[in-house]
Amino acid sequence: QEEVATFVLTEDVVRSFLPVRTLQGHKGTHGRGVLVAGSLGMTGAAVLAGKAALRSGIGLLQIITPQGAASLVDLGLTEATVWPAPAKDILDSQAWSVIADKCQDAQALAIGPGLGKNTDFIAVLEEVLRSVELPVILDADALNLIAENPGILGWRQGRGPLILTPHPGEMARLCDCSVQEIQDNRLEIALNKAVEWGAILVLKGAVTIVASPDGRAFLNPTGNPGLGTGGTGDVLTGSILGWLAQGVSSFEAACLGVYLHGKAADELAQDVGWSGFTASEVADQLPKVRRAVE
Ligand code: APR
Ligand code: MG
Repeated sequence: QEEVATFVLTEDVVRSFLPVRTLQGHKGTHGRGVLVAGSLGMTGAAVLAGKAALRSGIGLLQIITPQGAASLVDLGLTEATVWPAPAKDILDSQAWSVIADKCQDAQALAIGPGLGKNTDFIAVLEEVLRSVELPVILDADALNLIAENPGILGWRQGRGPLILTPHPGEMARLCDCSVQEIQDNRLEIALNKAVEWGAILVLKGAVTIVASPDGRAFLNPTGNPGLGTGGTGDVLTGSILGWLAQGVSSFEAACLGVYLHGKAADELAQDVGWSGFTASEVADQLPKVRRAVE
């Protein structure tokens, strides 16, 4: 294992990770992303993640969601295209063909927000780990499904970049230990698991850690307890998808996403304090904080 280098993320570091926009830029050059998210009763997670990808500057966003949820997601997010997978209310193994098709002309894939836990979907996650060459983000129920057999993460080695965004509860399930054990050893566990799984590990919480399998790790100084409200994690996932689609590489995209997400919350807290702002407001704040950093 290589030497560990841990730093605190700063505005200067984050600025150097931002993609450059040219005068000639268009939808094509700003990148296409695929978001696999939502289930009946959790369409909001797909909308929030999608909104954050758009607010991060993605060129084109394609959302894959179950048939029964598709019209709600479509109505909830005017700017995205929505592709129903053949499942009534929760995605199953049939989603793979739609995902494989949409990934053909995309630059990044995110799976998880509001997905719901259907064990049939594990087959799709296996296919994704094995055969999708794009950068992949796994969040929320995608992580909870993988927790049944974390060994499949090893299938990703050498295929394409992988970013995992667990909160401490999801991390505890992935590591088969208690939340307390995770919280007592956050940095060490994040770095060890990043190496073991060959993934960028975003361990969320009051000081989010972004750890890379090459031994680098950043601690994030932005964010506040106001983020402790439903949907803010979905916004983070969508934002990282947005940066990846624009060509930012995986470790940098994760750092950029985490820092700006926290800064958006800090900006909102200036107005209303540490409670009462919402996940959609965090997403809507992203362009302003990106601009302030650039
Ligand atoms: N300080 C800074 N950041 C914080 C703080 C804090 N005190 N509390 C929370 N956050 C940030 C986290 O770092 C993370 O970016 O808020 C976000 C919360 O993300 P999640 O825990 O994933 O919450 P969310 O996804 O919105 O929850 C909705 O999805 O993942 C599932 O199990 C989760 O059922 C839940 C649902
Ligand atoms: Mg979450």
